[in-house]
Amino acid sequence: MARAPFPEHRPRRLRRGVAIRDAVAETRLSIDDLICPLFVKAGGASKPVPSMPGVDQLPVNEAVGKIRRLAERGLRRFILFGVTPAEEKDPEGRFAASADAPVNQVLARVAEHGIDAVLIADTCFCEYTDHGHCGALAADDPGATVDNDRTLALLGETAVAQARAGAHFVAPSGMMDGQVAAIRRALDDAGFPQTGIIAYSAKYASHFYGPFRDAGEGGMAFGDRKGYQMDFRRCREWRMEIDHDLAEGADAVMVKPATPYLDVIRGARERVDVPVAAYHVSGEYAMLCAAAERGWLDFRSAAIETLTGIKRAGADLILTYLAPFAAEWQADGGGLRA
Ligand code: PBG
Repeated sequence: MARAPFPEHRPRRLRRGVAIRDAVAETRLSIDDLICPLFVKAGGASKPVPSMPGVDQLPVNEAVGKIRRLAERGLRRFILFGVTPAEEKDPEGRFAASADAPVNQVLARVAEHGIDAVLIADTCFCEYTDHGHCGALAADDPGATVDNDRTLALLGETAVAQARAGAHFVAPSGMMDGQVAAIRRALDDAGFPQTGIIAYSAKYASHFYGPFRDAGEGGMAFGDRKGYQMDFRRCREWRMEIDHDLAEGADAVMVKPATPYLDVIRGARERVDVPVAAYHVSGEYAMLCAAAERGWLDFRSAAIETLTGIKRAGADLILTYLAPFAAEWQADGGGLRA
């Protein structure tokens, strides 16, 4: 048979054996890419979150211990969410700005103990309001649910309290218009110009937040978050949200959730030069756990493939409940390869 007049197409040459595959892998997942979410509560015993196996609500002292242990293993970035006892909840979530709030206590203790970790405070009110929405209610505007500008003032106070307690970054997740500008101004005015803002810029009204609402006990007494979080059917709005957040002073932007929004992650990566974070949310985590529990998926391989895919799409940082597992897998020597 005559030879083809052009070189044969043989992509499989670069797939022959682990050493070659590793050399051309291009996307390398590392625990340096990961940010670990933690739920902190006032006191008492740690409490498992049923819909998120392996995730617990931790009392302040245990949260500090966990941060120390994980930091020693190389997992050094955390985002903190607070669980608020019912008696501390009110219509405006004022407890979020209290030095007694569990998040602020953990921030302060980690700083006191000199633990080498980067701490991000989630800045939002759904875990602090008695109605469970992400800000003060707009009584006369049911379509909006939350009063934007009243909430901006409360966000500023909360961010300042978190910065004072020792947060390196605050991460506003309530999707209020102008939240980055309001927080930047409040931080600067209070003497915290070095505290950064990771903006939840493109946060969709997602059905994958369900397990988180168990974990943070931040479910809503009525309605939904569609009056402030983004509609997932719209495909251009994220650009405007990201542009505004950058103009308002965001140090990094975030896309949330991650796997159903890989197009947005890719777009964000191409559009901006600040770090792009992606949040692999509670429901995405719960799906992996549930399938693995039934023996339908191998947890470790599926988890690493998922996180690598999010990174390949363009995420510089990934917020994920898989982070402590990844720290273990990396320590195992097997690395973060599936
Ligand atoms: C609060 C907040 C939510 C998440 C992070 N911050 C829940 C929500 O908006 O309802 C979700 C995180 C997750 O599902 O893992 N504003």
